Amino acid sequence: MQIFIDTADISEIEKFAYLIDGVTTNPTLLAKLGKLSTTENVIGKIAKIIPGSISVEVISQNYEGMVTEAEHLAKISSNIVIKIPMTEEGLKASSILTEKGIKINITLIFSANQALLAAKTGATYASIFVGRLDDQGTDGMQVVKDSLEIFKNYSIQTKIIAASIRNPSHVLEAAKAGCHIATIPPAVIGLMLKHNLTDAGLEQFLEDAGKNNIYTS
Ligand code: E4P
Repeated sequence: MQIFIDTADISEIEKFAYLIDGVTTNPTLLAKLGKLSTTENVIGKIAKIIPGSISVEVISQNYEGMVTEAEHLAKISSNIVIKIPMTEEGLKASSILTEKGIKINITLIFSANQALLAAKTGATYASIFVGRLDDQGTDGMQVVKDSLEIFKNYSIQTKIIAASIRNPSHVLEAAKAGCHIATIPPAVIGLMLKHNLTDAGLEQFLEDAGKNNIYTS
């Protein structure tokens, strides 16, 4: 499974650059950086750090606006992927942009039927928001599993991104389901790499090595 990082924070992206295959941002994540950082500036910096796909979202509501914005953002770097919302206008924009060779990530997907329609537009990625579904008492991972089954049935090339990841269990479940990609917040990557037995084991090894001076000549 590919691992994308779900942040616009340059220091977090630099920290995990050796581990990650791509980056997803959204307007909320970019707004967290404050008024001084323009989207183009931040995305340009990220694209210099990560050679994999960098998703950046349009904010227009109609398809013409989305297409214009997307064409502008796509010029930032060859690895830019345009995030388009799962709306009727968004699907139309996605179909126009994919025809032009611009890679699309359809975002805010909450059902397998939405994922199917996203794929029909030729989108490269379909982002299913697992955590937000769980938050409202629905099994978000089931939507990922259903979409994977449908895509497999018809050899659909669109890759499913398990998004809105809240904890390491979400990542584990996505990987077990055979999901193509999980986009993970930096804090959750931090939790994935930790285990209390690793810490305790290391502490014991270091203590024993010091006790017997076994590494000194
Ligand atoms: C995906 O691309 C989104 O940026 C993200 O996963 C949204 O997650 P949230 O529900 O934690 O905001």
